Amino acid sequence: MKALDSFPDDFLWGSSISAYQAEGGVEEGGKHLSVADISTQKEGYSDNSTASDFFHHYKEDIQLLANMHAKAFRFSLAWPRIMPEGEKRINKEGVAFYHAVLDELEKYNIKPIVTLFHYDLPLSLHKKYGGWNNRKTVDAFENYAKFCFEEFGHRIKMYMTINEPDILFMYGGHGLDIDGVEIFQRDKLRINHHFALAHAKAVALCHKLVPDAMIGPVFGYVPVYPKTSNPIDVMAAKNASDVQNAFFQELFLNGNYLTHVLDSYPNSLPVDIEDGDIKLIKQNKSDFIALNYYKSDVAEGIKEGDKVNDFILCNNEYLQATEWGWDIDAIGIRYMLREIFNRYHLPVFISENGIAHSESIERPVQDDYRIDYYQHHLHECKLAIKEGVKLLGYCNWSFIDLLSTSQGFEKRYGLVSVKKNEKGVSTLERIPKKSYKWYKKIIEQNGKEL
Ligand code: BG6
Repeated sequence: MKALDSFPDDFLWGSSISAYQAEGGVEEGGKHLSVADISTQKEGYSDNSTASDFFHHYKEDIQLLANMHAKAFRFSLAWPRIMPEGEKRINKEGVAFYHAVLDELEKYNIKPIVTLFHYDLPLSLHKKYGGWNNRKTVDAFENYAKFCFEEFGHRIKMYMTINEPDILFMYGGHGLDIDGVEIFQRDKLRINHHFALAHAKAVALCHKLVPDAMIGPVFGYVPVYPKTSNPIDVMAAKNASDVQNAFFQELFLNGNYLTHVLDSYPNSLPVDIEDGDIKLIKQNKSDFIALNYYKSDVAEGIKEGDKVNDFILCNNEYLQATEWGWDIDAIGIRYMLREIFNRYHLPVFISENGIAHSESIERPVQDDYRIDYYQHHLHECKLAIKEGVKLLGYCNWSFIDLLSTSQGFEKRYGLVSVKKNEKGVSTLERIPKKSYKWYKKIIEQNGKEL
């Protein structure tokens, strides 16, 4: 691979985790349960009551981040750790925990990048209002966000609002369908609209209360390629991408609804757009766009008469897939960066990117496949920067091994292994993998060799 110039001097090299997948201590330190905590209680998998135990290991983990010379750390605040019932009452112990995390990060000059909502809706709010299908939950989120800006605004200058509203919409889960999949399917257009409102309200508050901070949404972007050059497949890829990508970006970033996508959900309740909603979204512009990238998809058109009415998604015959069937596509990250930057003209940030693998916890993991994955994806990021994309930084997923969203602890993403498995081993010892050392070198030379 031909070496290019290095990344920008202020490039934010970092790593990601989320609260409900890493913290553990789900009912410790005054925290109450979230719907996401309940969703991890699945037959055959460990739940997240301990997860990676970041709650007790944060000092050690941040020390490891510092040793890797990370410039940034993306983590999420657990709403029910800060407000156990989701509104009104503040849990001082929970607030103190996040200040302690920020103290450690400041000690090593690591920039905190904070997601306000990564799936952990306080269970009490769900019981009281029925969750995100009720506007009262949007009001509660607004108050929670306000508290976060007032409490942490002097220390946190980069915020992400809601993690992957698009993936939540497409696939449900994560406690969103705690009352049943049918109810989620019925309500999902409304839930998504409420996410967009919550996002816009947080943007407005952040701009008012922490004017020197940046705030933006997080999309789980999946490029969709046509199976062949047959226009039927090309249209199918366009339709699939509108459904799983553009629909959300247009709403959150521009306050526009793609009506052909709305029309494709005849069995869901219509969106409850009230006066002022669209204006609110349009007026409160994001400062940057965070993107989680793992894979691309391929669409094949299904023709009825002379119309392409539907599509099916399939694997790409030119790509290899992970053990969990996700196509490994480094070029897709560059495709995504150019597509989004050139469409919305906002700086972009890679908030997640990584590869899962089953790994032994007995000895240091020699994860050459992960190094290979990062090497190629980061090379494509570098090309995108050369092509004019304003990429602010890159946080891989994940820093430490943590609980995957639906396949337990053995679907490992970390640069650092956590000694724990589904067979009852749980010393929680941290052992850096080969990829940790590789990434450290990349950060030290600012990606020169990529
Ligand atoms: C992203 C989420 O969709 O993908 C993370 O933001 C998640 O929370 C990651 O862990 C990988 O997905 P999974 O299902 O393998 O954990």
